[in-house]
Amino acid sequence: MLQITDLELSYGGTHVLSGFSLQLQAGEVLGLIGPNGAGKSSLIRALSGVLKPIAGQVLVDGKDLLGLPESERARLISVVPQSTQLPPAFTVYECVALGRTPHLNWLGSLGAADIAKIEWAMQITECAALKNRRAGQLSGGEQQRVLLARALAQDCPILLLDEPTAHLDLHHQVAILNVVRSLAKERKLAVLVALHDLNLASLFAQRLALLVNGRLQALGSPQEVLTEPTLQKAYAVSTRILSNPESGQPWVVLEDN
Ligand SMILES: Nc1ncnc2c1ncn2[C@@H]1O[C@H](COP(=O)(O)OP(=O)(O)OP(=O)(O)O)[C@@H](O)[C@H]1O
Ligand SMILES: [Mg+2]
Repeated sequence: MLQITDLELSYGGTHVLSGFSLQLQAGEVLGLIGPNGAGKSSLIRALSGVLKPIAGQVLVDGKDLLGLPESERARLISVVPQSTQLPPAFTVYECVALGRTPHLNWLGSLGAADIAKIEWAMQITECAALKNRRAGQLSGGEQQRVLLARALAQDCPILLLDEPTAHLDLHHQVAILNVVRSLAKERKLAVLVALHDLNLASLFAQRLALLVNGRLQALGSPQEVLTEPTLQKAYAVSTRILSNPESGQPWVVLEDN
């Protein structure tokens, strides 16, 4: 589905990602983890066309993603960027409706299918009750859910999420990641999600990519990536890896550092 080869990114000559290669399959949730400044958001910005790579290739089903016109790219990849702002004067409904923009005809009016998609996206992210509220008057977590609803309304085969659970309470962290996981499974979405919480990543992602200093340090199942030596090296923190008694997945416990 998404094939990244030898991607290289820099800001004004300072390299932030080097020799980065990764494949993302339809139906897969891939967790992107790594310390602050590792390059996770830069990678997501590059895939969404905001940051132009200095080298490398990104293919979606064999098509050069970065060479596509923006409107076509926006029908393939939807993004929830890290700490982005919604238009404060727009209602939640209007914000979510913005997700349909790449699908509208030249008249720009919403059809029945667009409206159904907007309603569905609000429902699934538990935003329906916020429908008529102004975006500028929402809490951080409510805004985060509206951003996800907008991305889901966009209805793309690839979804990129940059720390989508950052402002969410426990219920909504689990709810949102459950939504993402079932969309991947049932609608064969390919999902790349940057997460700081390694235990959430372990529970919800089938594979993890660990980025450290702009390089892919480890890639594989949570069992393969979440090991004591790997985390010690990446985060300079001592951990114990136990087995989550509920899921059997790796469970990262901090040692008294
Ligand atoms: N607009 C920018 N101009 C210059 N440097 C930038 C810019 N944005 C990010 N950087 C630098 O690029 C590097 C990677 O940043 P990036 O935001 O991709 O990290 P990250 O892995 O998403 O970190 P975090 O976990 O804190 O969100 C950092 O050293 C950062 O300071
Ligand atoms: Mg980031």
